[in-house]
Amino acid sequence: MTRASLDKQPHEVAAMFDDVAAKYDLTNDVLSLGQARLWRKAVAQAVDARPGERVLDLAAGTATSSMPFAAAGAYTVPCDFSQGMLREGKQRHPWMPFTAGDATKLPFKDGSFDAVTISFGLRNVQDTDAALREMRRVTAPGGRVVICEFSHPTWGPFRTVYEEYLMRALPPVARAVSSSPDAYVYLAESIQTWPDQPALAARLQQAGWAKVAWRNLTGGIVALHRGVRE
Ligand SMILES: C[S@@+](CC[C@H](N)C(=O)[O-])C[C@H]1O[C@@H](n2cnc3c(N)ncnc32)[C@H](O)[C@@H]1O
Repeated sequence: MTRASLDKQPHEVAAMFDDVAAKYDLTNDVLSLGQARLWRKAVAQAVDARPGERVLDLAAGTATSSMPFAAAGAYTVPCDFSQGMLREGKQRHPWMPFTAGDATKLPFKDGSFDAVTISFGLRNVQDTDAALREMRRVTAPGGRVVICEFSHPTWGPFRTVYEEYLMRALPPVARAVSSSPDAYVYLAESIQTWPDQPALAARLQQAGWAKVAWRNLTGGIVALHRGVRE
């Protein structure tokens, strides 16, 4: 079993997701205590995909995160660099145009998409800023970005309880429900070292995104950041 180290070497990250691919969605539902479904609904609302639009779902994994955009009638491209996740996704949704690609070197022309979105993926990319610039490059002028990522609860007492859950309860629960519990130790550590809401917003602005804003979900356990390509 591969556990990515916190320097997020791409081959380690891809191999770790290859290992968890088969049970990835089930484990997510259990560990997020059912919140994952609510977070996905909020992403769908924020992206607001329209029929005929082109939507890139980056780090799409098995494409569970891509389904709401396809259901809204958008031409939706799930892109990921884990062959295991892509294979699992293709088995479940053979009609989707799965594309192998690294977030920091996207295999798409400039301005190819009306919206680019990434759910629970950006934190795993070694060079966050390169990915934010690439996402902007492949977005058409006037297009939008939505980033859904674990963040930091804003209310101090809740933050303390949550950090206890992450570091103490999550690894044993993961051992019970996942074949790759080490991946969830990486998850807990990578969440703790990830930038908070204002810091990620600043990174988006530095990458050239305009009208950057964010919304907290579940008290800030997750944040939705958005921006526009002017
Ligand atoms: C936690 S999963 C999220 C999958 C899906 N978006 C979801 O919400 O269920 C993270 C995904 O990011 C992918 N990933 C990580 N780094 C990547 C990179 N540099 N380029 C493309 N995909 C990447 C992994 O392979 C994995 O499938």
